[in-house]
Amino acid sequence: MVNVAILGFGTVGSGVAEVLAKNAEHIDQKVETPVRLKYILDVRDFPGSPFEDKVVHDFSVIENDPTVEIVVETIGGATVALDYTRRALSAGKSVVSSNKELVAEHGYELLQLAAQKGVSYLFEASVGGGIPILRPLSQCLAANELTEVCGILNGTTNYILTRMIRSGLTFEAALKEAQANGYAEKDPTADVEGRDACRKICILAAIAFGRHIYPQQVPTEGISGVTLADVAYAESCNRKIKLLGRAVKEPDGRVCAYVAPHLVDAEAPLAGVEDVFNAIMVKGDAIGDVMFYGRGAGKLPTASAVVADVMDAARHIQSRKHIEWGPGGEDVTVSPDQFPFRWYVRAAGSAAAVRTAFPGAALLSRPGAPAEEVAFLTAGAMTRAQLDAALGDLRPLSVFRVLA
Ligand code: HSE
Repeated sequence: MVNVAILGFGTVGSGVAEVLAKNAEHIDQKVETPVRLKYILDVRDFPGSPFEDKVVHDFSVIENDPTVEIVVETIGGATVALDYTRRALSAGKSVVSSNKELVAEHGYELLQLAAQKGVSYLFEASVGGGIPILRPLSQCLAANELTEVCGILNGTTNYILTRMIRSGLTFEAALKEAQANGYAEKDPTADVEGRDACRKICILAAIAFGRHIYPQQVPTEGISGVTLADVAYAESCNRKIKLLGRAVKEPDGRVCAYVAPHLVDAEAPLAGVEDVFNAIMVKGDAIGDVMFYGRGAGKLPTASAVVADVMDAARHIQSRKHIEWGPGGEDVTVSPDQFPFRWYVRAAGSAAAVRTAFPGAALLSRPGAPAEEVAFLTAGAMTRAQLDAALGDLRPLSVFRVLA
């Protein structure tokens, strides 16, 4: 018998309790021992819930119970969750987490601690919700030299962009829908400003390239600057606006990672990823391109990934399930500002000014554009500094990369 405790009975935590209860027979068969939920830690009580008798308010009850071997951390954030994760690992318990903020900030330290204690620290649900991505990346693609990971990593912003593109909905109305469906973070600015996607690309890059990458090393831009005008200009050149997290391994071994809105060719696989779905493209020298696709947010898809990790940890109680990467450092990353990209620009100015400043640029049009607005795609690739220098009198309103 393996006893489990869940920390945090919110959307994901309650989903985990439901999946453990609903699929108990199947889980026990696969793990070859009963897996039982013993405690739920939360500051609240849940009168009337089928799990109300499991609720405790004091973490030390779980920490000091030697029969609890697996702790599920679905609290979120990097304060209380960090403290409890350290204490659970130190007490010799495996920890399964959906907490991307904690892994992105403290993954290296927590994996080291898990290794010292001979237990597992698993977090498949922290990236891509229900999509199996971390395990394939660390195990199934291990024979490859990986060169790039790029994807739509946030369901809330993809939902918002899809609703703007397909239905002309305002940003605010689309965000309300995403929140009502339980996709958004408690504070939706983490989604909207790209911080959630940033944490996820940090985790993906650490697994793909073997060194910890901290969120503050990853320039991050969200979608709050994307307007319906940009959506219309993108459509006019057969492209869609998508928020992408990218991490590219440069020839010198450093990693160029960033999060930003991009114009993506409407026929490209990533452009077809809509609503709350996520997709992650991985490039490897032997495998070429692989794409992982599925529901990137939501209670049950995320809970399904957590429970799969619980089952994996339960099977490896004696042997420890191994994920690891090396320490972070300033030498690990390189800024995207050092590299040339093709750009989409919407600006206040004239078409004549664009033709002079950007010879060969493709001018774009949209119905109802104000007379003083211009939009264009640069003819070729240039660094951000070269773009800014060329703008001259043109006053930029939106500037996004074009995915090559
Ligand atoms: N808020 C996140 C998203 C949840 O929208 O993708 C899943 O990590």
